[in-house]
Amino acid sequence: MVEKSAQQLTFYLENETETLALGKKLAQLCPPEQFTIHLEGDLGAGKTTLSRGLLRQLGHQGNVKSPTYTLVERYDLADRTVFHFDLYRLIDPEELDYLGLDDYLSNNSLCLIEWAQQGGDLLPEPDLLISLNYQNDGRNITISAYSIAGEKLCSNLNI
Ligand SMILES: Nc1ncnc2c1ncn2[C@@H]1O[C@H](COP(=O)(O)OP(=O)(O)OP(=O)(O)O)[C@@H](O)[C@H]1O
Ligand SMILES: [Mg+2]
Repeated sequence: MVEKSAQQLTFYLENETETLALGKKLAQLCPPEQFTIHLEGDLGAGKTTLSRGLLRQLGHQGNVKSPTYTLVERYDLADRTVFHFDLYRLIDPEELDYLGLDDYLSNNSLCLIEWAQQGGDLLPEPDLLISLNYQNDGRNITISAYSIAGEKLCSNLNI
């Protein structure tokens, strides 16, 4: 059994470009099997920016908006399918039942979940939890691993 947050990395991202670059790096290191990343942080902390960097690296060329009203946006990319959630407007975690979460969290998908805390206990633990916090003009980022796959990614990111 993996201990909660056995591995944790913290670093400072000075500007949007660095947040996009981190997203890109994460995309390169994510394993091909199903992998879930929870993104937490205040409004405007950079969750969508990070997701955009990741999606671009995987070949998505268009816009990336937080799917605030639809709750989830699907991207069928060359190597895999990415589901980008924004649960900010989820009023009751039970609403997740209607989304059919099991379908998303399977089939080697990559799931990015903004405002995952809104899902309460109904969301399974992620492989990685990324917290973004305002710090001066930039952002402090903490990445916590909650699975062996997540720990492996952190080790590779650590180099
Ligand atoms: N490391 C950084 N330093 C400073 N500004 C940043 C950094 N990363 C991203 N930003 C800027 O912060 C804003 C983040 O907006 P973004 O939509 O990504 O936030 P969000 O966390 O998804 O917000 P929401 O909770 O509303 O969905 C953008 O204007 C972006 O340019
Ligand atoms: Mg967002």
